[in-house]
Amino acid sequence: MQFTVAIDGPAAAGKGTISKAVAAHFGFAHLDTGLLYRAVGARVLTGDDAIAAARGLTTADLERPSLRTGEVAQEASKVAVIPEVRHALLEFQREFAEREGGAVLDGRDIGTVICPDAQVKVFVTASAEVRADRRYKELVAQDPEIKLAEVLADVIARDKRDSERATAPLVAAKDALLIDTSDLSIPEAVAQVVAAIDEARGA
Ligand code: DC
Repeated sequence: MQFTVAIDGPAAAGKGTISKAVAAHFGFAHLDTGLLYRAVGARVLTGDDAIAAARGLTTADLERPSLRTGEVAQEASKVAVIPEVRHALLEFQREFAEREGGAVLDGRDIGTVICPDAQVKVFVTASAEVRADRRYKELVAQDPEIKLAEVLADVIARDKRDSERATAPLVAAKDALLIDTSDLSIPEAVAQVVAAIDEARGA
């Protein structure tokens, strides 16, 4: 059985948490595609060329502990603008989406470019302030000096770069279910996605 769920949205909207919960609910595999761009960004920060890094990405690159830092997130957003980088990562994502047993992919362009035929597409969003607050709470554990205003500025800069790039910009697919998590709990958001998948599967 092949069944693809595409979950897109801006940074810290909750798509990662929702995707993991939905994948666990149905026993589907889950791919956080942001990690691929973060791994390329992390290699660029150590002096590698972005396109060469994307073409030669290894599983060890995806396991680096530094991938979750704010610095790597910004660099990921910068390398994600380069069409050759996106192209180099495309096949891996499509193969993952088509695996037997079902797959959930989360990112920015899954429903629009990577899997335009996904059976279920979701676009998860929330206000920039709510998203910055969530990201701040995650980051402050590692860096007590970090300021909420800095995190908000980073979120806004990343949104702008991700939405305005020419190749595969962050945009909701026309047929995506829109979920705003500003005032919605994660279990409520997960329930909406589970219901959409049940409906698409005819359950
Ligand atoms: O989801 P994330 O915050 O881990 O993503 C990091 C960056 O990677 C994001 O700012 C833009 C880029 N990205 C992308 O361009 N396309 C995707 N499918 C996933 C992430």
